[in-house]
Amino acid sequence: MPITGRMLVFCVLLAGLSGIGFSNLGVKELVTSAKGGDPVSGREIYVNTCIRCHGIDGKGALGIKLVPSPADLTTPDVQNRLDGTLFRRIHEGKPNTAMGAWKHSLSDEEIWDVLSYVRVLGVESGGRP
Ligand code: HEC
Repeated sequence: MPITGRMLVFCVLLAGLSGIGFSNLGVKELVTSAKGGDPVSGREIYVNTCIRCHGIDGKGALGIKLVPSPADLTTPDVQNRLDGTLFRRIHEGKPNTAMGAWKHSLSDEEIWDVLSYVRVLGVESGGRP
């Protein structure tokens, strides 16, 4: 069974309760999110390609004027969606928005990596999974 973002957050919550604490929560502890995507490599990709619209914390970049504005990636609205749904969205883009189809510049593996980093952003913001 793949480890979903939801299960991951559950584990992180357990870790927090058992005294390990959120403050120690580094990206490395989250290496198994989103179908084995690697959030460390995902962060690289995010910084290079997504940050200019979605911002450093996923909540949107300051000073960007797009209609519609880039999605806040930390909201339950995004985080509650299944990995497969978000993968497809990043792969194919969203019609009639600035969100392009990344399949032309990212491999499937890279999309899983960046998606697992999007899950990290959700956890780090304290947002619900
Ligand atoms: C040129 C600006 C831009 C870039 C670069 C960009 N996005 Fe987006 N993104 C958007 C916009 C605009 C939306 C749609 C907001 C809406 O529909 O309200 C969006 C939506 C999304 C969504 C939510 C999709 C949905 O179904 O609502 C996800 C997830 C996402 N982007 C991930 C990414 C990732 C990962 C990258 C980097 C590979 C990326 N975006 C790069 C502008 C951008």
